[in-house]
Amino acid sequence: MDLNNLTLELTDRVAVVTVNRPKSLNALNPDTLAELLEVFTALGDHEDLVGVVITGSGEKAFIAGADISAMKDYGVLEGRQMGKLGHLVLDTIAAFPKPVIAAVNGFALGGGCELAMACDIRICSDNAKFGQPEVNLGVIPGFGGTQRLPRLVGTGRALELLFTGDMIDAAEAFRIGLVNRVVKQQELLPECLAIMKKISTKGPLAIQLCKDVVRTGMELDLARACRYEADLFSICFASEDQKEGMTAFLEKRKADFKNR
Ligand code: HXC
Repeated sequence: MDLNNLTLELTDRVAVVTVNRPKSLNALNPDTLAELLEVFTALGDHEDLVGVVITGSGEKAFIAGADISAMKDYGVLEGRQMGKLGHLVLDTIAAFPKPVIAAVNGFALGGGCELAMACDIRICSDNAKFGQPEVNLGVIPGFGGTQRLPRLVGTGRALELLFTGDMIDAAEAFRIGLVNRVVKQQELLPECLAIMKKISTKGPLAIQLCKDVVRTGMELDLARACRYEADLFSICFASEDQKEGMTAFLEKRKADFKNR
């Protein structure tokens, strides 16, 4: 894989993807989006993988948005193409078969906030700032922000952020449920890796099915979603993981899951 805008590190079956354009605060241009798509597509075939942590290079920014200099002269069709590419990347992250954690190490604005929202879990450093400042640029969010933000924090809070373009700090992002935890900057990656380590000790099939049923179920009405849960619950009983997990409990030992 030829990566110019990202770095990819694999340790202990966890991939760390770092958007690496520090001079433009890791802004997402089409090449960077294409590389993200390539990396997540390739990692999706990695059977042993526990999950992916995505972060930004430097100590100032996670991702300061889509690249404004790339978009300034776009016409309608190029704008549409950019939006579609962003949606494809973020939908790929949301549907990635394993857990994806956003390690938000600074500004997460516009497309950066949207990318973080497509991840399963958001952990941020105490200097992080979140916002959807698109109205300052005369546009609306184009990578799913108008949809994922109200689903995460509620319509009223989302519309206030969208109308004002205001940035909120880490404490406020935590208060409104936009992030799971706030930690000191030097603890950010270790914290995300510790979560992945804990996940790595659980039944791997159960982890994948949890993600599938939550993500799919949120798009369905409650009755259908619960039926889908019942289907996936029953599938667990076809796995070695279920036999090992329940046997280990009854034998008062730790489960040793093999089904990765
Ligand atoms: C391109 C960007 C950028 C961006 C920052 N830079 N954000 N370049 N696209 N989104 C560049 C700056 O131009 C500057 O380049 C360098 O990064 C450092 O930024 P400064 O502004 O000098 O830093 P600072 O004063 O600390 O301010 C940080 C900031 C500010 C508050 C994050 O940069 C900012 O407001 N950025 C724009 C945020 C934004 O509006 N994002 C939404 C984009 S639209 P030079 O060359 O001068 O050093 C979007 C829509 C998605 O995301 C959907 C599309 C379809």
